[in-house]
Amino acid sequence: MPIWYGGDYNPEQWTEETWDDDIRLMQRGGISMATVGVFSWAKLEPREGEFEFGWLDRVLDKLHAGGIRVDLATATASPPPWLTHRYPEVLPVTENGIRLYPGSRQQYCPSSPVYRRLAARLATAIVERYKDHPALELWHINNEYGCHVSRCYCDVSAEAFRVWLQAKYGTIAAFNEAWGTAFWSQRYGEFAEVYPPRAAPTLKNPTQLLDFDRFSSDELLECYRAEAAIVREVSPGVPVTTNFMGFFKPADYWKWAAEVDVVSDDAYPDPADPRSPAYAAMERDLMRSLRHGQPWLLMEQASSAVNWRKRNAPKGPGQQRALSYQSVARGADGILFFQWRQSVAGAEKFHSGLVPHAGTDTRVWREVEQLGGELAQLDRVAGSRVLAKTAIVFDWDSWWSIEQTATPAEISYVQNVFAWYAELWRRTVAVDFVRPIDDLSGYVLVIVPSLFAATGAAQKNLDAFAREGGTLLVTYQSVITDENAHITPGGYLGVLRETLGVWIEEFAPLAAPDLEATGVRPAPDIRVESELLGSSDAEIWAEYVHAPDAEVLAIFAEGALAGWPALTRNAVGSGAAWYVATQPAGEALGRLVVRLIDDAGVFGVVDIVPEGVEAVRRGELTFVINHSMASGVVALQGMDLATGAAVTEVSLEPQGVAILTTAS
Ligand code: GAL
Ligand code: ZN
Repeated sequence: MPIWYGGDYNPEQWTEETWDDDIRLMQRGGISMATVGVFSWAKLEPREGEFEFGWLDRVLDKLHAGGIRVDLATATASPPPWLTHRYPEVLPVTENGIRLYPGSRQQYCPSSPVYRRLAARLATAIVERYKDHPALELWHINNEYGCHVSRCYCDVSAEAFRVWLQAKYGTIAAFNEAWGTAFWSQRYGEFAEVYPPRAAPTLKNPTQLLDFDRFSSDELLECYRAEAAIVREVSPGVPVTTNFMGFFKPADYWKWAAEVDVVSDDAYPDPADPRSPAYAAMERDLMRSLRHGQPWLLMEQASSAVNWRKRNAPKGPGQQRALSYQSVARGADGILFFQWRQSVAGAEKFHSGLVPHAGTDTRVWREVEQLGGELAQLDRVAGSRVLAKTAIVFDWDSWWSIEQTATPAEISYVQNVFAWYAELWRRTVAVDFVRPIDDLSGYVLVIVPSLFAATGAAQKNLDAFAREGGTLLVTYQSVITDENAHITPGGYLGVLRETLGVWIEEFAPLAAPDLEATGVRPAPDIRVESELLGSSDAEIWAEYVHAPDAEVLAIFAEGALAGWPALTRNAVGSGAAWYVATQPAGEALGRLVVRLIDDAGVFGVVDIVPEGVEAVRRGELTFVINHSMASGVVALQGMDLATGAAVTEVSLEPQGVAILTTAS
């Protein structure tokens, strides 16, 4: 099986003469897969019900003749102008009642029956026509669901929300109870009185917000499901995907991933941000985790600059290659780009392509050819897996809940997760992401950052993990509410009070480093002290924790919190349950992570890597990737795949990559 290589191909932007040139160049570049038709609705159905497939027939035939496989889109991502002109009710409405107009893309209400009907008809026509086309490899449903319009507040959506709520709660009494409507005179007499959380005088009902987050993710998923069902019926046996966007708040990808045959993902790390390789690694690990280790596809990345940041840095020499190998190392069986040929018109004409404006006598093109040649030699990695003994719990309900406005402080859920991930990444420790209710028996260390909303089942599952011998770390702002956004009373933490041997009396949020503007003033001089962590600044959070049963390993050192526990450990069953009531800053966090992995018996892929270097084992191969601008040396025994030589260390140029076969 090959590692796929290619990208979005938008032939409708070019003349047919260019198409022949495209195929020749694709062959030269080692391209094996093209994603076709993503934004072709207006060209495929220029008038309602009139389809023009001739041009696409010719494109697919040419690709097939050139030996290039096709990831064929259902083309429903951007409704054409005739559609929203004739059916303006399809246009989505924002929280403030503003209707979004055509002239861009994705201008549809996810709940719109008209949109769904016309999308289904287009998808059916495409699938019926191309189901037996010899170039067909994969079906690509829509594109980046929710990327721009993840929710709609129109009257159609309001009605769909009511139907969703009624199905969920059954009775208006159960609904009122769940939404806590005794508060602020919000009791509803019937579902007809309920609205989406449109602009309101002040803080909105938290359960209304949470349910609307869930509903909005589900509505988009319904759009996906409807198209996927058509594909599966008409074109059985051909795998189906839709491209995800890493940590994307509006779509609960745990739920989505169960509905695709292969996970695919789009990745646009900022080339100018030195933290982005670690963050990108975290996103790629999520993608691998969504279907429990199954290989996935990098569906989109940029060959160089994007066009949607304030300043769009190009990727430096070798950077695209290093980031591509990062995905391969973390489980990708395909490396694809947006887009093949850089556009000359339209809103993305400054977005890089595999074939740049300047042509093929360019660094970008040479790097495209180089990587294509290399990946063609790497068949052996396809299908192989990454094994992790450490897991981080990631949960969309908690993400949605903790980032509501009516909370103790503004917190970034993903940044909290990233703080822990980054320390493990620097130590080359393999990490899977898991849901709180997943089977954790394959892990020895589980980190639970700010699991704000937790069901009883989740609490019991985490408790059992520790009791059965695992090392569990729970951080501040966990199990604060249940699944209905109601407080877990009696000192928070629910079942985990027993597990952790602590309870929480009161919160004392600190200013987060990046959130100075929120008006939360830093408590003066909050530091933590301990033998384990040293003396360290505390960031983001502090609280008054009682530790009747747990060993106190660090205390807050100054101010009103002086002497209160900041870090605890409780021996429970045959395992250990740690609780941390703050975010230790700087090296202290690293020291804590080292202690946890030592206790749990987890090892990195290599002992020490220079700053900016990552190491990942996938199957029998170890990838060492240098994302920094400095050369580096890593001690590692194995056979260097490039030279065939046995080595005991690898030297890496800036952005260099080494691949070794190693004994595991
Ligand atoms: C993605 C999208 C592509 C293209 C790309 C540019 O969000 O799927 O169509 O717009 O971004 O970075
Ligand atoms: Zn709507």
